[in-house]
Amino acid sequence: MDEQQILKQLNTIKDIPTLPTIVYELNQHLENPETSIATVCETIERDQAMALRILKLVNSAFYGFKSKVSDIKNAVVLLGFNAVRNAIVSVSVIKALPKNALFQDFEMDAFWKHSLAVAVTSKNIAQKANGESPDNCFVGGLLHDVGKVIMAQYFRDLFVKVWTYMQQECLSFYEAEQHELPIDHARIGAYLAQRWALPQGLIDAIRWHQDFQPEIPNAKFVMNIYLANILVNSYDENPDCEIDMAALHPKAVKFLMEQMEDIGDWYYGLTDEIEAAYSLFLDPEF
Ligand SMILES: [Fe+2]
Repeated sequence: MDEQQILKQLNTIKDIPTLPTIVYELNQHLENPETSIATVCETIERDQAMALRILKLVNSAFYGFKSKVSDIKNAVVLLGFNAVRNAIVSVSVIKALPKNALFQDFEMDAFWKHSLAVAVTSKNIAQKANGESPDNCFVGGLLHDVGKVIMAQYFRDLFVKVWTYMQQECLSFYEAEQHELPIDHARIGAYLAQRWALPQGLIDAIRWHQDFQPEIPNAKFVMNIYLANILVNSYDENPDCEIDMAALHPKAVKFLMEQMEDIGDWYYGLTDEIEAAYSLFLDPEF
């Protein structure tokens, strides 16, 4: 199968995970600058389970507000439209994907831990260095590898090929894909994000997170996700390791040099926030 055939087959899968209507409605509301707080609140309140989750979220250590937020209107005012929409997208995607291991040691818990670490890291890169929306970066980080899950679920033979080769040769998943397949998880993930009608920036971040180029659309936003993924992987593999600058795009190296020179200390400073994200988003009750 070539890339087009794989995407075509993906298009015909009927039971592919879907997001709740509230996500589509909120995305539409957010495109309209006239949307009022009341409209956003009504949309959220129609989905009671989601409304409760949002309140739990704003009252959690992850957001760290001092006073208790007891209704959706307050939550929207405190967090803003965009942050609330992003929180709902995040929760919905985690809920929409399977819970159990999809193949041998491809565990969903580990998958989400990596994704949440990348989410928190990209959010913080945005806050520290380059003026991109921290909330958008969080969701971009959370969703960057979603194509792996779809591959494991619906293209089992392709996934097994990559996984086996990756372990045999001690490569990254992406390196093994490049050797074994005509497609990769970034393209599959971007395809899914398009089907979910997510904002274009997110689609671009998922599509290019392994292969950053300054010419791509939304490049500054995408670079945060790309860098965060590299930072999380580098420090996970070896806490003392230096980032392999030679493997990075020169533009990303320049950004790191100019904006993030204390990178090791800075990254360790994120530990508590990453832990808070785990305990919130991975709580089965959430
Ligand atoms: Fe990836």
